[in-house]
Amino acid sequence: MKKIILYAILCCGVFITSCTSEKTVSDDKAFLPPLMGWSSWNTYFVDISEELIKKQADAMVATGLKDAGYQYINIDDGFFGFRDKDGKMTYNAERFPNGMRVVSDYIHSLGLKAGIYSEGGDNTCGSMYNAEKSGVGAGFYGHDQQDADVYFKDWNFDFIKIDYCGGKELGLPERERYESIVKAIRNTGRTDASINICRWAYPGHWAANIARSWRISSDIQPRWRSVKYIIGKNMYLSAYAGNGGYNDMDMLEIGRGMPLNEEEVHFGMWCIMSSPLLIGCDMTSIPDYSLELLKNKELIAINQDVLGLQAYVAQRNGDAYVLVKDIETKRGTKRAVAFYNSSDSACDITVPFKTLELGGKVQVRDLIKHKDIGTFEGEMSHTLPGRSVLICTMQAELRLEPEVYEAEWAFLPCFDDLGHNPRIIRYSQAPDCSGGVKVAYVGAKKENRVVWREVYSEKGGEYEMAVSYCSAKDKKLQISVNGTEYSFEKLNSGDWNKPAVLKLTVNLKPGYNEISMGCDYSWGPDIDKFELRKK
Ligand code: GLA
Repeated sequence: MKKIILYAILCCGVFITSCTSEKTVSDDKAFLPPLMGWSSWNTYFVDISEELIKKQADAMVATGLKDAGYQYINIDDGFFGFRDKDGKMTYNAERFPNGMRVVSDYIHSLGLKAGIYSEGGDNTCGSMYNAEKSGVGAGFYGHDQQDADVYFKDWNFDFIKIDYCGGKELGLPERERYESIVKAIRNTGRTDASINICRWAYPGHWAANIARSWRISSDIQPRWRSVKYIIGKNMYLSAYAGNGGYNDMDMLEIGRGMPLNEEEVHFGMWCIMSSPLLIGCDMTSIPDYSLELLKNKELIAINQDVLGLQAYVAQRNGDAYVLVKDIETKRGTKRAVAFYNSSDSACDITVPFKTLELGGKVQVRDLIKHKDIGTFEGEMSHTLPGRSVLICTMQAELRLEPEVYEAEWAFLPCFDDLGHNPRIIRYSQAPDCSGGVKVAYVGAKKENRVVWREVYSEKGGEYEMAVSYCSAKDKKLQISVNGTEYSFEKLNSGDWNKPAVLKLTVNLKPGYNEISMGCDYSWGPDIDKFELRKK
C-alpha cells in the first residue's frame, strides 16, 4: 500500500515541495547495513581502465578485505563514451576495450558486486573539472529510462552513484530528478540496486525513500582538515540515518598517507556514524597499519550493526565530543561510544555514565586496540591526544531512563542543507545552549516542527517537562505530546542565544512517545532541549 502511494505520486510526475513525512517505501525496506567496498575516484580520478578495475577486484580478495566484509567494486567517473545516434550511452573504448559487461561479469565472478556512476543533470562533473569531453550530455537528464536500462540490464551493475554537477548547473530540482531516475532504475526490474545520491549536502528526508545513502559534504581529501570538516558536517544528522539509509561521509582516504592517529579518527568515526565504507586507495599496495585498520572487525561490527543507527553527540567539551549509539539491542545495556578530540592539543574528558543512560558497573572495551580498558562506576575520565579518538563499547549493568532530549538529536521534517532556502529550519551553534547547539527557524507553517520520535518512558505516567528555548521577542510555541497539544504565548528569554525554561506537566505512555514542537502560523522560539522528571 505504501509503495503504491509513492509510485502513484511519481507516475503523475508531480514535484512534491511539502516536507511532511508522507508514507514512504523505506518503511517496507528490508534492513540493509551501510555499503562496504572500494571506489576508483580518490586515487585514479578519471584515469581508469578494465585492467585497473580487475586488479583492484583481485586485490580486494587477496588482501582479505572481501572476507572482512567489503563487497562492492565501484567504477566512478571516467568510463563514459559518447552517446550513439539513438542517444544510447556507450563506453570509453580505449579504457574499456571489451565493454562494461565484461568488467561487471569479472567482478561478479569473484563473488563481489559491481557499481557504476552517473549524473542527475546533463553534463558530468568530469566534463567540468577533469576535461572529460565524453561527459558532456552523459548524465541521465532526458535519458532516464534509456540509461537505467544500459547500466542495470545491459551492463548488469548492482549499485549507482548519481552525481549532480550538471543538475546544479541547470538549476534542476533535486528531489524531482532523483525520484525520476530511481523510478526508471526500479522499472528495469532491479529493485535490489543500491542508490547513492551525490549532492554534497544533506538533501532532505525524501532521500531515505529512494536511496541507500546520500552524500552530506563536498569531496574528501587525504588531509586532516578534510576529515575533521566532514565529521563536523555529520555531527547533528543522526536523526536521518536508519532503516537502511545512511549519511554518506564520502570515500575513505585510509592508506593515502595520513598518520595513524588521523586514520584512526577517520575510520573510527565513519564506523560509529554508520557511513558507507568505500576504500579509496590502491588496494594492491596498502600500508600494513592501514590495512589492519580497514579490517578491524570490532569497528566494522559497530558500522554494520543490526540497528543501523548513527551515533549522536551526548556531551561536548569545547572541541572534544562524546558520541553514543545503541548496538545489538535497542535500549539495551551495551552501547558504542566515541571520545573524539578534534583539536590539535591533548585534552581530558570526563563523562558521567548517566549522560549515556548507563548505570551500575560499566565495562569498557577499546575497539581500535582490541583491549579491555577496565570497569568503572559513576563516570569515566580519559585523556585524548590532539586529533585522536577512543572508540569503545560500554557494557553496563543497567540502562537508565533518559532525562534529557537535545534539539540537535531531533528529526526536522523540513530540514535540508541544499542552500536553496535562507530561512530553513536548522541545527545552529549557540554557545550558551546545552551541547552548544539549538534548532532555529522553527514554525511559520504547521509541518515545520522539531520532532523527537522516541521519547522513552519505562512505565509511563506524569512527568514534569522543562523546555529550554531562546527568543528575543514574544513568541508562541505549540508542544504536542502523542497528539495532545499544549500552547504557550509570549515566550521571551530576552536573547536569541540565552535560554529560558518553560515548565508543563505531561502524560507519557509506557515505551516510546512522540513529542514535537512548532508554531503553525508564525515563527516560534529557537529550541535548545527539554528535560523530563517523573512526578
Ligand atoms: C564529484 C563527486 C566525486 C566524484 C567526482 C567525479 O566531485 O563528489 O565523489 O564522483 O564528482 O567526477
